[in-house]
Amino acid sequence: MGRLSAWFHERIPISGDRLRELTNEPVPNHLKHWWFCLGGTPAYLFVVQIVTGILLAFYYQPSPGTAYESVRYITEEASYGWYIRSLHKWAATLMVAAVILHQMRVYFTGAYRKPREVNWMVGMCLLLCTLLTGFTGYSLVYEQLSYWGATVAGNITDTVPVLGGFLKTMLLAGNSYNERTLSRFFVLHGAVLPVTMIVLLGIHITLLRLQGVTEFVFEDEPRDTPRHFNFFPDHFYTELIIGLVLMILLSFLATVIPATLGPKADPLTTPEVIKPEWFFYVAFRWLKLFSGTVAVLSTGLIVFVMFLWPFVDEWIRRKTRATEASVWIGIAAVCALVGLTVWEAAIPH
Ligand code: HEM
Repeated sequence: MGRLSAWFHERIPISGDRLRELTNEPVPNHLKHWWFCLGGTPAYLFVVQIVTGILLAFYYQPSPGTAYESVRYITEEASYGWYIRSLHKWAATLMVAAVILHQMRVYFTGAYRKPREVNWMVGMCLLLCTLLTGFTGYSLVYEQLSYWGATVAGNITDTVPVLGGFLKTMLLAGNSYNERTLSRFFVLHGAVLPVTMIVLLGIHITLLRLQGVTEFVFEDEPRDTPRHFNFFPDHFYTELIIGLVLMILLSFLATVIPATLGPKADPLTTPEVIKPEWFFYVAFRWLKLFSGTVAVLSTGLIVFVMFLWPFVDEWIRRKTRATEASVWIGIAAVCALVGLTVWEAAIPH
């Protein structure tokens, strides 16, 4: 050992072997299939969001007088600004998609069942934080749709019984969109929500390490082969390849379909069509189908049931012995999700 590495080793007593031992959790065979590793994808994209978000924050100025101009500067003048902004936008889209796909994988394989109920609930908090981060980010650009989207969100919040007025004031920093709204969104988007997500991810991964991932045995799997393989290097390489493919895909999308800039917010002119980001289409269509309070309360109820799903599922299975019920409920939910999203996308307003 050289003198320099001996110096470090004395102060940080970790060797390659020790590290390998620490990370070498036996991994169940089904994780050789990449679609079971979808949880790693939002984790990668989250890191991309932090790095590109910090770079964007160097230039972004959160006030109605400056926000739009600062985003225009990033997109048209700052070196590689268009690229960083496009990476941030595409990684946000892919992250929402990856979280939903990961949740579906966990759902349809029943991996949320005892003893992983708490990790499912932590996952639900991560889902809500991801969606809120998407919403607040979209609002920062101060385009027409950012402004009117936030205004609509404020009005929807207002229809929540009892707490509505308070929640609206908390969201918009006042009774309606004002000079302080953007800085509130910026703090939520760039600090409160990411830090909350880092904490939640820490809990999510710790619980995962303590409980291990759910083990599945497939019918066509020979019984006499080993049921596990090593985390390092086998699973590590799978994750590395997924990460590299993701980076190439992101860079490709950012270059071929870069982020654009719509017309600047005009508080005096309501646009003919107000649409949120695609991941809110389902909620938006639902809200349009029912009256304000009914729509908001039913959305709240659905989220609440999703939150407690492991216990609801347990109760259904105990009471009815319908072991497949969750699969059919899941299929119906996915059909509703896709149906309402396509419906909202297909109609002009
Ligand atoms: C930022 C979002 C998220 C990240 C980065 C993340 C990360 C991960 C990772 C790396 C795993 C290991 C297994 C795999 O790769 O599938 C995992 C497992 C798990 N996740 Fe997530 N997750 C997120 C969101 C969610 C959501 C929204 C839910 C559900 C509401 C959820 C529930 C679970 C559960 C129950 C497991 C254990 C699965 C098993 O034992 O097989 N996670 N997560």
